[in-house]
Amino acid sequence: MVTEQDDAEPQCDALARLKVALKKNRRDAHHRYFQLATVAADGSPRNRTLVFRGFAPGDERLLAITDTRSEKLAELSIGNTAEIAWYFTHTREQFRLRVLVDCVTQSSQAPAGLQLRNEVWRGLSDAAREQFFWLPPGQPLGTGTPPDAGDAAPDTFALLFLTPIRIDHLVLAKVQTRRLAQTTEGDWHEQSINP
Ligand SMILES: Cc1cc2nc3c(=O)[nH]c(=O)nc-3n(C[C@H](O)[C@H](O)[C@H](O)COP(=O)(O)O)c2cc1C
Repeated sequence: MVTEQDDAEPQCDALARLKVALKKNRRDAHHRYFQLATVAADGSPRNRTLVFRGFAPGDERLLAITDTRSEKLAELSIGNTAEIAWYFTHTREQFRLRVLVDCVTQSSQAPAGLQLRNEVWRGLSDAAREQFFWLPPGQPLGTGTPPDAGDAAPDTFALLFLTPIRIDHLVLAKVQTRRLAQTTEGDWHEQSINP
């Protein structure tokens, strides 16, 4: 079961604060949307909004879904690093997470990843599922071939595992605070920095 508040105790204080922020900002529907920035093959930036789909059970990886035909996947195949920017309006705090991205598709070899991919697929609304059977995203309107419809997750459905390696946490208050957490081989180190 994938939940927004995974019960695993985070190894990193910044991730623990992110989980608190998710809880405190629950009243705002947009607390589940973050921006994910990548770099294209020509070095230019790309950015887009994604829905946060919870944490992988028992660990610190964030989950998102996308279409395998979308441009972001080509960008992530060049380098698997991306950056999330996430602002919580109620508590007025920003989290910027540098993440390593693993993409699980139909052809992936990892059984645990595939099992979670199926679980997330089954948990989607009909409207969310339908988009994966549309014509290829980003192509001129009306062109391309849609995938075959069915109950199982189609080839176009990808589950993204986003593993944080650096978290920059800015809190807007009378006295602003900013903390930077970084990990090397699983050990997190955090320090306060000038906002
Ligand atoms: C509120 C909102 C939520 C979105 N959620 C997702 C999502 O979860 N996954 C996704 O692939 N695209 C999502 N999109 C669409 C993306 O922002 C983007 O337009 C699309 O994925 C194509 O991006 P790309 O060409 O950079 O790959 C969302 C857009 C909005 C406005």
